[in-house]
Amino acid sequence: MKVFISREICAPGIELLRSHGIELNIWKEKRELTPLELIENCKNVDALLSAGANKLDAKFMKKCAHLKVISLHSVGFDNVDISEANHLKIPIGHIARILSEPTSDIAFLLMLAVSRKAFSGYERILNGNWNFFEPTRYLGIEIKGKTLGIFGMGNIGFEMARKCKAAYGMEIIYTSRSQKENAEKELNARRVSFDELIRQSDVLSLHSTLNPETRGKFNKTVFNQMKPNSIFINTSRGAIHNEKDLIEALQNKTIFGAGLDVTNPEPMNKNNPLLSMSSVAVLPHMGSATVETRNEMSVIAAENIIAAFEGKRIPYPVNPEVYG
Ligand code: DGY
Repeated sequence: MKVFISREICAPGIELLRSHGIELNIWKEKRELTPLELIENCKNVDALLSAGANKLDAKFMKKCAHLKVISLHSVGFDNVDISEANHLKIPIGHIARILSEPTSDIAFLLMLAVSRKAFSGYERILNGNWNFFEPTRYLGIEIKGKTLGIFGMGNIGFEMARKCKAAYGMEIIYTSRSQKENAEKELNARRVSFDELIRQSDVLSLHSTLNPETRGKFNKTVFNQMKPNSIFINTSRGAIHNEKDLIEALQNKTIFGAGLDVTNPEPMNKNNPLLSMSSVAVLPHMGSATVETRNEMSVIAAENIIAAFEGKRIPYPVNPEVYG
């Protein structure tokens, strides 16, 4: 059996695949594959392990209908045409469960970095501009006792809420497709309407999937209803916010600041105005980037492939419906 791996991943997953006698073809160039290159590389293999945001659309699926499994090296699957995969009966695996710790850490880190203008202070040192103490410079805002709004109370949202409650006694409100009893019991979280969420949050943190309903949802209309001292955090998908509207909201001081681990588009252009704003912190989509998590992600991605090759149901399917 052969697998094409679209980017270098951590060693444990690679070793696991090899220990099962699976032959690997790993794309080593540090650039995106073109859609055609991806199809070409998948022609003579039995599975794709897709790391990065390769577009696995209907055209790709049709050309690669022979694949026994597509294993994503991500929890998100917004880059995949799931209905076409279902139609062709290709199981799609993803990384369930394990991203809540590292990604919520990054959301928490961004919240603090924005509230205390940390990235801007660091940049000042880098530029050789730390000259003397100015009592009115770098004035941030405090988080203690404020209200945290979670948009999408899944595992990552829950973990962010838990940390904020434990560290700062924050009051938690949330919107989610369903009621989350564990969050309500453990964190005293309150499920509210979307309007209440955006009007009442001091920190608004996005943890939902990207789908037709959430694409571009955080736009000018939403920013205009947020509190003037509020902080907007996005560690889920950049396309959930309208970046032009976000820039405008920050320039007009409609909101206090923004912390982004995901941008729209990615990678962010180095001339983006967000990068020169003092109450903005941007990271290059690194929410899951810890040794522990990336090692485990590589193993889970490998396990999905091995199970499919053994004719079994894959352990972490996005589309269990392919099994009937
Ligand atoms: C994920 O796993 O979805 C992360 O955002 C990395 O893409």
